Amino acid sequence: MGRGRVVTLDGPAGAGKSTVARLLAEVLGFRLLDTGAMYRVVTLAALERGVDLESDAALGALARTLVLELEPGRARVNGRDVTTAIRTVEVTRASRHAADSPSVRAVLRDWQRAAAREHDLVTEGRDQGTVVFPDALCKFYLEASDEERARRRAAEIAARGEPVAFQVVLHDIRERDARDRSRAIAPMKPAADAIVVDTTALGIDEVVNQLAAVVRARLAAASS
Ligand code: C5P
Repeated sequence: MGRGRVVTLDGPAGAGKSTVARLLAEVLGFRLLDTGAMYRVVTLAALERGVDLESDAALGALARTLVLELEPGRARVNGRDVTTAIRTVEVTRASRHAADSPSVRAVLRDWQRAAAREHDLVTEGRDQGTVVFPDALCKFYLEASDEERARRRAAEIAARGEPVAFQVVLHDIRERDARDRSRAIAPMKPAADAIVVDTTALGIDEVVNQLAAVVRARLAAASS
Protein backbone atom coordinates (compact mmCIF):
# COMPACT_ATOMS: atom_id res chain seq x y z
CA MET A 1 0.00 0.00 0.00
CA GLY A 2 3.00 2.31 0.08
CA ARG A 3 6.67 2.46 0.80
CA GLY A 4 6.73 4.39 4.08
CA ARG A 5 6.32 2.72 7.42
CA VAL A 6 3.11 3.69 9.15
CA VAL A 7 2.16 3.98 12.82
CA THR A 8 -1.55 4.65 13.37
CA LEU A 9 -3.03 6.41 16.39
CA ASP A 10 -6.81 6.38 16.58
CA GLY A 11 -9.29 7.20 19.32
CA PRO A 12 -11.77 9.76 20.58
CA ALA A 13 -11.24 13.50 21.08
CA GLY A 14 -9.16 14.44 24.10
CA ALA A 15 -7.52 11.04 24.59
CA GLY A 16 -4.12 12.69 24.06
CA LYS A 17 -3.71 11.63 20.43
CA SER A 18 -2.49 14.94 19.00
CA THR A 19 0.24 15.57 21.56
CA VAL A 20 1.30 11.94 21.70
CA ALA A 21 1.36 11.68 17.89
CA ARG A 22 3.49 14.81 17.56
CA LEU A 23 6.04 13.66 20.15
CA LEU A 24 6.08 10.08 18.89
CA ALA A 25 6.74 11.32 15.34
CA GLU A 26 9.59 13.44 16.70
CA VAL A 27 11.30 10.64 18.63
CA LEU A 28 10.94 8.20 15.72
CA GLY A 29 11.93 10.74 13.06
CA PHE A 30 8.65 10.05 11.20
CA ARG A 31 6.31 12.61 9.59
CA LEU A 32 3.14 13.55 11.45
CA LEU A 33 -0.25 13.37 9.73
CA ASP A 34 -3.20 15.03 11.50
CA THR A 35 -6.18 13.62 9.60
CA GLY A 36 -8.72 15.43 11.82
CA ALA A 37 -7.27 18.67 10.43
CA MET A 38 -8.21 17.45 6.94
CA TYR A 39 -11.88 16.99 7.94
CA ARG A 40 -11.77 20.40 9.59
CA VAL A 41 -10.30 22.10 6.50
CA VAL A 42 -13.07 20.69 4.28
CA THR A 43 -15.65 21.82 6.87
CA LEU A 44 -14.25 25.34 7.09
CA ALA A 45 -14.20 25.69 3.30
CA ALA A 46 -17.81 24.44 3.10
CA LEU A 47 -18.99 26.87 5.77
CA GLU A 48 -17.21 29.82 4.15
CA ARG A 49 -18.47 29.06 0.65
CA GLY A 50 -22.00 28.19 1.68
CA VAL A 51 -21.70 24.62 0.36
CA ASP A 52 -24.62 22.40 1.40
CA LEU A 53 -23.28 20.42 4.37
CA GLU A 54 -25.92 17.73 3.84
CA SER A 55 -24.78 17.03 0.28
CA ASP A 56 -22.24 14.24 -0.07
CA ALA A 57 -21.60 15.11 -3.72
CA ALA A 58 -21.11 18.84 -3.06
CA LEU A 59 -18.73 18.19 -0.15
CA GLY A 60 -16.75 15.66 -2.16
CA ALA A 61 -16.46 18.02 -5.14
CA LEU A 62 -15.30 20.80 -2.82
CA ALA A 63 -12.69 18.55 -1.15
CA ARG A 64 -11.19 17.70 -4.55
CA THR A 65 -10.52 21.40 -5.26
CA LEU A 66 -8.56 22.02 -2.06
CA VAL A 67 -4.78 22.12 -1.98
CA LEU A 68 -3.77 21.28 1.52
CA GLU A 69 -0.41 21.75 3.23
CA LEU A 70 -0.10 20.28 6.70
CA GLU A 71 2.89 20.64 8.99
CA PRO A 72 2.95 19.86 12.70
CA GLY A 73 0.81 22.57 14.34
CA ARG A 74 0.06 24.37 11.06
CA ALA A 75 -2.52 24.00 8.32
CA ARG A 76 -2.69 25.85 5.00
CA VAL A 77 -5.35 25.53 2.35
CA ASN A 78 -4.91 26.98 -1.13
CA GLY A 79 -2.00 28.98 0.31
CA ARG A 80 -3.95 30.52 3.22
CA ASP A 81 -3.08 29.81 6.85
CA VAL A 82 -6.12 28.28 8.58
CA THR A 83 -4.35 26.91 11.68
CA THR A 84 -6.65 28.67 14.15
CA ALA A 85 -9.72 29.00 11.92
CA ILE A 86 -10.18 25.20 11.82
CA ARG A 87 -10.17 24.86 15.63
CA THR A 88 -13.29 26.91 16.46
CA VAL A 89 -16.27 25.34 18.21
CA GLU A 90 -18.36 26.00 15.09
CA VAL A 91 -16.01 24.04 12.80
CA THR A 92 -15.65 21.26 15.38
CA ARG A 93 -19.41 20.80 15.59
CA ALA A 94 -19.97 21.00 11.84
CA SER A 95 -17.14 18.53 11.07
CA ARG A 96 -19.57 15.62 11.41
CA HIS A 97 -20.93 16.34 7.91
CA ALA A 98 -17.54 15.88 6.26
CA ALA A 99 -16.92 12.84 8.47
CA ASP A 100 -20.24 11.25 7.41
CA SER A 101 -19.65 11.92 3.70
CA PRO A 102 -18.40 8.86 1.76
CA SER A 103 -17.08 11.13 -1.02
CA VAL A 104 -15.04 13.24 1.37
CA ARG A 105 -13.72 10.14 3.13
CA ALA A 106 -12.57 8.72 -0.22
CA VAL A 107 -10.72 11.91 -1.17
CA LEU A 108 -9.04 12.20 2.23
CA ARG A 109 -8.13 8.51 2.27
CA ASP A 110 -6.30 9.03 -1.03
CA TRP A 111 -4.42 12.04 0.38
CA GLN A 112 -3.47 10.01 3.45
CA ARG A 113 -2.19 7.04 1.44
CA ALA A 114 -0.30 9.38 -0.89
CA ALA A 115 1.51 10.86 2.13
CA ALA A 116 2.53 7.35 3.21
CA ARG A 117 4.04 6.61 -0.20
CA GLU A 118 6.59 9.35 0.38
CA HIS A 119 7.31 9.29 4.11
CA ASP A 120 7.37 7.19 7.24
CA LEU A 121 4.26 8.37 9.07
CA VAL A 122 2.69 8.67 12.47
CA THR A 123 -0.91 9.28 11.50
CA GLU A 124 -3.71 10.18 13.92
CA GLY A 125 -7.46 10.05 13.42
CA ARG A 126 -10.43 7.73 13.83
CA ASP A 127 -10.07 5.22 10.98
CA GLN A 128 -6.36 5.06 10.28
CA GLY A 129 -5.79 1.55 11.61
CA THR A 130 -9.17 0.13 10.56
CA VAL A 131 -9.68 1.51 7.03
CA VAL A 132 -6.85 3.61 5.65
CA PHE A 133 -3.78 1.61 6.72
CA PRO A 134 -4.89 -1.95 7.48
CA ASP A 135 -1.26 -3.11 7.01
CA ALA A 136 0.33 -0.52 9.31
CA LEU A 137 3.51 -1.50 11.14
CA CYS A 138 1.93 -0.59 14.49
CA LYS A 139 -1.61 0.39 15.48
CA PHE A 140 -2.55 2.16 18.68
CA TYR A 141 -5.93 3.21 20.02
CA LEU A 142 -5.86 5.80 22.80
CA GLU A 143 -8.77 6.32 25.13
CA ALA A 144 -9.49 8.06 28.44
CA SER A 145 -12.52 8.70 30.63
CA ASP A 146 -15.08 11.20 29.30
CA GLU A 147 -14.42 13.59 32.18
CA GLU A 148 -10.66 13.53 31.74
CA ARG A 149 -10.98 14.08 28.00
CA ALA A 150 -13.36 17.01 28.53
CA ARG A 151 -11.01 18.47 31.14
CA ARG A 152 -8.10 18.35 28.67
CA ARG A 153 -10.20 19.79 25.83
CA ALA A 154 -11.52 22.60 28.05
CA ALA A 155 -7.96 23.48 29.10
CA GLU A 156 -6.88 23.65 25.43
CA ILE A 157 -9.80 25.91 24.52
CA ALA A 158 -9.25 28.15 27.57
CA ALA A 159 -5.55 28.42 26.66
CA ARG A 160 -6.64 29.94 23.33
CA GLY A 161 -8.59 32.56 25.26
CA GLU A 162 -12.05 31.29 24.24
CA PRO A 163 -14.68 31.33 27.01
CA VAL A 164 -15.70 27.76 27.79
CA ALA A 165 -17.94 25.87 30.22
CA PHE A 166 -16.77 22.39 31.25
CA GLN A 167 -20.28 20.91 31.00
CA VAL A 168 -20.66 22.16 27.42
CA VAL A 169 -17.31 20.64 26.43
CA LEU A 170 -18.28 17.34 28.10
CA HIS A 171 -21.62 17.31 26.31
CA ASP A 172 -20.04 18.14 22.91
CA ILE A 173 -17.35 15.51 23.34
CA ARG A 174 -19.89 12.79 24.21
CA GLU A 175 -22.10 13.74 21.28
CA ARG A 176 -19.21 13.78 18.79
CA ASP A 177 -17.86 10.43 20.01
CA ALA A 178 -21.28 8.82 19.79
CA ARG A 179 -21.55 9.96 16.17
CA ASP A 180 -17.97 8.91 15.37
CA ARG A 181 -18.61 5.45 16.88
CA SER A 182 -21.96 4.84 15.24
CA ARG A 183 -21.50 6.23 11.74
CA ALA A 184 -22.19 3.82 8.90
CA ILE A 185 -18.89 4.43 7.14
CA ALA A 186 -15.49 4.04 8.86
CA PRO A 187 -16.80 4.14 12.44
CA MET A 188 -14.30 4.90 15.18
CA LYS A 189 -13.14 1.68 16.84
CA PRO A 190 -9.89 -0.08 17.65
CA ALA A 191 -8.60 -2.26 14.82
CA ALA A 192 -8.60 -5.95 15.75
CA ASP A 193 -4.80 -5.82 15.95
CA ALA A 194 -4.52 -2.42 17.70
CA ILE A 195 -2.91 -1.95 21.10
CA VAL A 196 -5.42 -0.08 23.29
CA VAL A 197 -3.91 2.37 25.79
CA ASP A 198 -6.01 4.06 28.49
CA THR A 199 -4.32 7.42 29.11
CA THR A 200 -6.63 8.63 31.92
CA ALA A 201 -4.00 8.27 34.61
CA LEU A 202 -0.86 8.47 32.47
CA GLY A 203 1.41 11.43 31.74
CA ILE A 204 2.21 12.29 28.12
CA ASP A 205 5.84 11.16 28.42
CA GLU A 206 4.79 7.80 29.83
CA VAL A 207 2.47 7.21 26.90
CA VAL A 208 5.05 8.33 24.32
CA ASN A 209 7.77 6.13 25.85
CA GLN A 210 5.45 3.13 25.96
CA LEU A 211 4.42 3.54 22.31
CA ALA A 212 7.95 4.30 21.09
CA ALA A 213 9.21 1.09 22.75
CA VAL A 214 6.61 -0.97 20.91
CA VAL A 215 7.41 0.66 17.56
CA ARG A 216 11.16 0.20 18.02
CA ALA A 217 10.67 -3.46 18.85
CA ARG A 218 8.60 -3.94 15.68
CA LEU A 219 11.15 -2.05 13.56
CA ALA A 220 13.95 -4.22 14.96
CA ALA A 221 11.95 -7.40 14.32
CA ALA A 222 11.13 -6.27 10.77
CA SER A 223 14.78 -5.61 9.91
CA SER A 224 16.20 -8.82 11.38
O1 C5P B 1 -9.39 14.82 15.63
P1 C5P B 1 -10.28 16.01 15.38
O2 C5P B 1 -11.07 16.43 16.57
O3 C5P B 1 -9.53 17.16 14.79
O4 C5P B 1 -11.30 15.51 14.25
C1 C5P B 1 -12.39 16.28 13.84
C2 C5P B 1 -13.51 15.36 13.33
O5 C5P B 1 -13.12 14.78 12.09
C3 C5P B 1 -13.82 14.16 14.24
O6 C5P B 1 -14.84 14.40 15.19
C4 C5P B 1 -14.29 13.09 13.28
O7 C5P B 1 -15.68 13.17 13.09
C5 C5P B 1 -13.60 13.45 12.00
N1 C5P B 1 -12.51 12.54 11.68
C6 C5P B 1 -12.79 11.37 11.04
N2 C5P B 1 -11.79 10.52 10.67
C7 C5P B 1 -10.51 10.81 10.95
C8 C5P B 1 -10.18 12.00 11.64
C9 C5P B 1 -11.22 12.85 12.02
O8 C5P B 1 -13.97 11.09 10.79
N3 C5P B 1 -9.55 9.98 10.55
